[in-house]
Amino acid sequence: METVVLKVDPTNPEPDVIRRAADVIRAGGLVAFPTETVYGLGANALSADAVAGIFTAKGRPSTNPLIVHVSGPAEPVPPVPQARRVPDVTEVLNVASAWPETAARLAARFWPGPLTLVVPKRDSVPDIVTACGPTVAVRCPNHPVARALIRAAGTPLAAPSANRSTELSPTRAEHVLKSLNERIDLLLDGGPCSGGLESTVVDVTGEFPRLLRPGLITVSMLEEVCGRVEAGVRSEGVARSPGQMVKHYSPRTPLVLTEDADTEHQRLMELGLRVISLGYDLIYDYKFISDDPGEYAADLYAALHELDNGQYDRIVIEMPPDTPEWAAVRDRLTRAAARE
Ligand code: TXA
Ligand code: MG
Repeated sequence: METVVLKVDPTNPEPDVIRRAADVIRAGGLVAFPTETVYGLGANALSADAVAGIFTAKGRPSTNPLIVHVSGPAEPVPPVPQARRVPDVTEVLNVASAWPETAARLAARFWPGPLTLVVPKRDSVPDIVTACGPTVAVRCPNHPVARALIRAAGTPLAAPSANRSTELSPTRAEHVLKSLNERIDLLLDGGPCSGGLESTVVDVTGEFPRLLRPGLITVSMLEEVCGRVEAGVRSEGVARSPGQMVKHYSPRTPLVLTEDADTEHQRLMELGLRVISLGYDLIYDYKFISDDPGEYAADLYAALHELDNGQYDRIVIEMPPDTPEWAAVRDRLTRAAARE
């Protein structure tokens, strides 16, 4: 199929562009769209056939469940966080069979935003969305294009990141095209994503909230709202976040993570390899990336996409410090470097 690419204003999406994209969703098609984290590949979450298209386009294993995106309030988001309005609970209850107190508190604080909440699912959500599990992951993205699209489609959108399975996530429209051209119906090009890393995923079905995937909303931010947060996937039963597969988000060029990029760079050059480093203030050939965690996150995937297009044998990356504000970046770097 031909992939239609439409430019869209990221702050004030043009209604006719959104209407075209919503028509594709309603017809059961696939639309890639910008969110504040990464580009998503959306389909009608309540249609098993439409969602099956996502798995085909991405080559995604059916054991990996999808996030369902809801639109939230119709008004523009007020700038003061406390004044943020959460989606109508009825919108969430179209897909969730319960909305625990913790979910309500976290949503009131962080939605719309890069936080995904795992809650009990409703029967109306097709099994293909949740990998046949009893829970559904829900998120209200903080991006005008994403929310306008969901609202215009009149249905929640199942949307994984808009890349082939195991490849790097896309933070620019050209990353989506590189991976999915001719495999999806429409791409809304709303420019670069500001956040740059996929949302924080928290399971709120247990006694304590559990972090399944670190993101820009850190554990300490969560704990301020709901007290203790547990880490990691529960050991018993089915994997609670099958997306915790180690190899994920990988460029084709092997990554080498190190505590000392210059020493490693030199060692690899002496072996006759073509090497580039990613970091700041290095000696050898390197691409600059900020030492601020937020700016680093926003630029990481774009930098890796760019370096992956170069003719290099290795990409050397100096690991940022093992501190909470770097947890999401370190998680993604570790997965990107895993070869299995
Ligand atoms: O920022 C994001 O979350 C982006 C944008 C597009 O919203 N989406 C995204 O989707 O990263 P994806 O499919 O690449 O990652 C979804 C993650 C996976 O780790 C998956 O295993 C987990 O969410 N997940 C989805 N449903 C789940 C469920 N019911 N229980 C536990 N984990 C779930
Ligand atoms: Mg993904």
